[in-house]
Amino acid sequence: MTTRIIGTGSCLPAQVISNDQLAQWVDTSDEWISSRTGIRNRRIVKDETGAWMASQAAKKALENANTDAEEIDLIVVATCSNDMQFPSTACQVQEAIGARHAVAFDISAACSGFLFGINTVHAYFSAGIYKKALVIGTEVLSKLVDWTDRSTCVLFGDGAGAAVVEAAETGLEGFVQYSDGSKGNVLTCSSRKIQNPLQETTEDYIRMNGQEVFKFAVKKVPECILQVLEQTGTKKEDIRWYVLHQANSRIIQSAAKRLGVPEEKFPMNMEKYGNTSAASIPVLLDEMNRNGMLTRGDRLILSGFGAGLTWGAAQIVW
Ligand code: ACO
Repeated sequence: MTTRIIGTGSCLPAQVISNDQLAQWVDTSDEWISSRTGIRNRRIVKDETGAWMASQAAKKALENANTDAEEIDLIVVATCSNDMQFPSTACQVQEAIGARHAVAFDISAACSGFLFGINTVHAYFSAGIYKKALVIGTEVLSKLVDWTDRSTCVLFGDGAGAAVVEAAETGLEGFVQYSDGSKGNVLTCSSRKIQNPLQETTEDYIRMNGQEVFKFAVKKVPECILQVLEQTGTKKEDIRWYVLHQANSRIIQSAAKRLGVPEEKFPMNMEKYGNTSAASIPVLLDEMNRNGMLTRGDRLILSGFGAGLTWGAAQIVW
């Protein structure tokens, strides 16, 4: 018994912000951003919330899976930018979609969140506890970036993606996942400020050592993909698509090169949405699914990497 994705959905904010528009707010240019990251546009919330986008994505995924919300046993939402400290985004989604039999909770693993969510659900399925789940990545990173810091505000975007998964005979074939808290300081964002009688802190935004994150990603992503391929006894040529977290096109190109796999097998959409952290993999999967790029039986590698540090890869059969 394993875990199979049976439907996908996504929801992006309506407002598109281009690199040229950003250049009116900070000292940057379309040329600088697109040549270093592959990003040309991102979506930014105006009226949308993280929970609302997650619920919309979930509804579309349920429709795509031909599944009723009442059949869902478990909702796992991966996010690092919740609208509220509590209730969790997952509980808000449960209410919005009417999944009244589901247990719901959030997980925090930054850009690896969707992948870690799939693996968490897989553990529940493997233990025979649940049979049907929703795994969602949703982010409103526009509220975590310092809009005066050109080194970070150009990179991120908002959005949500969701997958309905069920216990099945084929699906997830193997995975690896890792954390290294000792390197956590290269990419941080502190929580809301403390104002108690003993101390005060200042609110902070995303802070990143871009070059260290880059070095981490280009080393660890190919490494963990090769580990999964070895674990499952699969040749890299037999993978139809490598679906990587959409942080940066140069990271993905470098991973392709190190793996010796043609870049065409690495679909990318960061040009339209920027880096949407936990949402990036399910948003891309949903686009591929709806564009007819996925055929039953295709083998895919999913790989996420991000703050924590956290990273991992999973091999699935579509
Ligand atoms: N526009 C114009 N100039 C800029 C901008 C900008 N938006 N941002 C930084 N610069 C300037 C810097 O000030 C610096 O100027 P200086 O030389 O006069 O001091 C110069 O550009 C070079 O800065 P670097 O930080 O060295 O630029 P680098 O070539 O490393 O590119 C980048 C930065 C794109 C962030 C790169 O390090 C990278 O891709 N890192 C990976 C990080 C990433 O993708 N993070 C996403 C979040 S984490 C995740 O999802 C895993």
